[in-house]
Amino acid sequence: MGRWLASLACACIWPAWAAGAAGDAAGPAGVTPEESRAIATLGPWPPPRRRDPGNRVSGQPLAIELGRQLFRDPRMSAVSYIACVTCHQPDRAFTDSKARAHGMGDLPRNTPALANLSLQHWYGWGGGADSVWMASIRPILDSREFDGSGALVVRLFAREPELAACYRRVFGASPLVDPERTVINVGKALAAFVETLVTARTPFDEFRDAIVRGDARGAAAYPDAALRGLRLFVGRGGCIACHSGPNFSDGRFHAGTAPADGIAAAVERSLHDNGRLRDARDLLASRFNLRGAYNDDPSRRNAAATRGLRLDAAMAGRFRTPSLRNVAVTAPYFHDGRTDRLADAARHAGAPAAEPLRIGEVDDLAAFLSTLTDAHGARRPWNPAGLTDCR
Ligand code: HEC
Ligand code: HEC
Repeated sequence: MGRWLASLACACIWPAWAAGAAGDAAGPAGVTPEESRAIATLGPWPPPRRRDPGNRVSGQPLAIELGRQLFRDPRMSAVSYIACVTCHQPDRAFTDSKARAHGMGDLPRNTPALANLSLQHWYGWGGGADSVWMASIRPILDSREFDGSGALVVRLFAREPELAACYRRVFGASPLVDPERTVINVGKALAAFVETLVTARTPFDEFRDAIVRGDARGAAAYPDAALRGLRLFVGRGGCIACHSGPNFSDGRFHAGTAPADGIAAAVERSLHDNGRLRDARDLLASRFNLRGAYNDDPSRRNAAATRGLRLDAAMAGRFRTPSLRNVAVTAPYFHDGRTDRLADAARHAGAPAAEPLRIGEVDDLAAFLSTLTDAHGARRPWNPAGLTDCR
């Protein structure tokens, strides 16, 4: 009753409310100092822009524009109707709403939303690429996606003098001479574009900044259910152990994310897709990784993690922690798209020792995750860098 009365008046008299709800040390919205510190680590947002040192055209406006044009061009695919946008659709948060992707053939995995990728180090669910440009080359050559080739990519430029002129301006060479080099450079232009896809500030970011400032009035605008979910997220739910930092991802690979549908299904799944183990093996075997000749970083410091990578049986069945920014608009969830419901996805894991989450708590977690959606939601701006042509 006292709590109910206090919450009616909460915006103005928070110290009294907080003292009742969470002890003397509570700050704005009743969060404890420990919770405040954890919440602070989930920002600030947006992050500083970062150039990829391994991609010499990263951040260059002309390269971004070339990448933007190529991203929607289906003519690099064997059948001339599959493009990056076929699966990464701007009006669906750069994903495709399917459980698992389909190009020239079926893929075993869900199409990830392309956003905030500069904050990752390994790309793909199992980290099969160590740069955004390597991840952008794979679909062109994969027989289940474009089923393309160097020859097809060169043919596109041979038929399109304007595109070829744009390529020459960006890379200072003809796209018609060396097909492998052209494919690599196309990957780097695509990556320059993909890196510009970032999500904007969200209601959660406003709340987080208010907590950091000690601004009770600002914090009071945050919905109660979301606040309860957030406290679970940083507390008993154990989520922040992996979904950490401003991008809600530690960038690492984890197993043991207990699936909602039981252990037998989990075993079955790992037979189909052993995640990090296979992808790390493929990464090490590829000449397109950062150890190879196409890495543009003269210091080659960016290759340290790839050089240090060792295959290990424990990698089997692990997947990269996905970012949770805009997660409410990127269903289906998990590497295999096994559920459409955010509440089911929110329940998948948690600190192993913690008592299982109750139904109401799962709903609170989903309410919190929904406050990680920015104003664009699923309809992403198609030209975030504001470019118009390649002249
Ligand atoms: C047939 C559907 C499909 C097409 C076409 C496609 N992708 Fe993807 N994309 C995926 C899937 C599925 C993954 C996850 C791959 C994995 O886990 O190995 C992915 C992953 C990625 C990633 C890594 C994202 C991350 O979070 O690590 C990037 C970058 C990417 N794609 C860019 C592109 C570009 C650029 C193109 C066009 C050249 C493209 N994709 C075409 C389905 C597709
Ligand atoms: C041990 C590390 C770990 C912990 C702890 C953890 N997660 Fe995850 N989370 C992951 C990984 C890894 C995946 C991807 C698993 C897969 O695709 O098979 C994932 C996937 C998700 C997804 C689906 C996202 C998408 O785009 O597909 C949601 C939502 C999610 N986690 C929320 C939570 C919440 C809420 C908690 C706390 C109750 C939590 N996670 C705890 C590692 C973790």
